[in-house]
Amino acid sequence: MDAQIEYATEADGPGLANVNIVSFRHQGLLQEVFPEASDERLGEYKAVYSMKHLANPEMHVLKLVDPASGEIIGYSRWHIPKALVGETLPVLSEKAQEAARNFTAHAPRPMNEAMYKAFRGLLETSRKQFTTEQDMVLDLLAILPEYQGQGLSSKLLRWGCDQADKFGVRVYLEATGDGYPVYIKYGWKPLEEMTLDRKLYGGERVDRFTLMMRDPQPVKK
Ligand SMILES: CC(C)(COP(=O)(O)OP(=O)(O)OC[C@H]1O[C@@H](n2cnc3c(N)ncnc32)[C@H](O)[C@@H]1OP(=O)(O)O)[C@@H](O)C(=O)NCCC(=O)NCCS
Repeated sequence: MDAQIEYATEADGPGLANVNIVSFRHQGLLQEVFPEASDERLGEYKAVYSMKHLANPEMHVLKLVDPASGEIIGYSRWHIPKALVGETLPVLSEKAQEAARNFTAHAPRPMNEAMYKAFRGLLETSRKQFTTEQDMVLDLLAILPEYQGQGLSSKLLRWGCDQADKFGVRVYLEATGDGYPVYIKYGWKPLEEMTLDRKLYGGERVDRFTLMMRDPQPVKK
């Protein structure tokens, strides 16, 4: 498919939210953290949450759009130190800026805060352990299920790998089982396994991630 990579804007909040909810549904984390929220309500919240990322001057939020339907079918978030590329400067309305500052007020209730904090805490601890301020981080990569297996995540990964190789920096990420073989193909190496036992927080599943790092590679001429 001839989908082009573009920077996401405020108007893309619902489309980004949809990719996030649908692509990660089989892991069930959102559904356990917000047990009574409908997809529509989760979508509202995730759309607001995405403003936090758009407002982050070091977060590069990239979307892939189906040229036929105009639908957002995949996206990635890359944290790139501003010393390398400067700051992202999305134009955000007052409302979006408020949402970015105060996104927790928009969370569906009830919310399993203990499970959510355990998940965020694990990610933060491992990022502190394995990364430095010079590293890039692939914060999220997702393609809608019906569009997977067509080389679309490769487009987004090549974008980030090209940046990293140009600047000679490493890229850290936490891989799901779906992502692991794809990242191996693009040069990431496993560092350590990380698990979150959601049963400790009233859930039913265990999440398993592989923490991975990619060293910069020589730029092809
Ligand atoms: C992981 C995910 C983003 C992959 O997206 P995708 O668009 O299906 O991936 P692609 O079709 O672009 O495949 C990427 C490359 O990996 C290769 N690949 C895919 N699965 C592979 C496997 N099991 N073994 C070896 N190579 C594999 C593909 O051949 C492709 O190579 P190419 O660049 O030569 O075309 C997608 O499955 C997804 O969104 N999953 C749910 C959310 C998720 O877990 N995201 C990852 C978070 S870390």
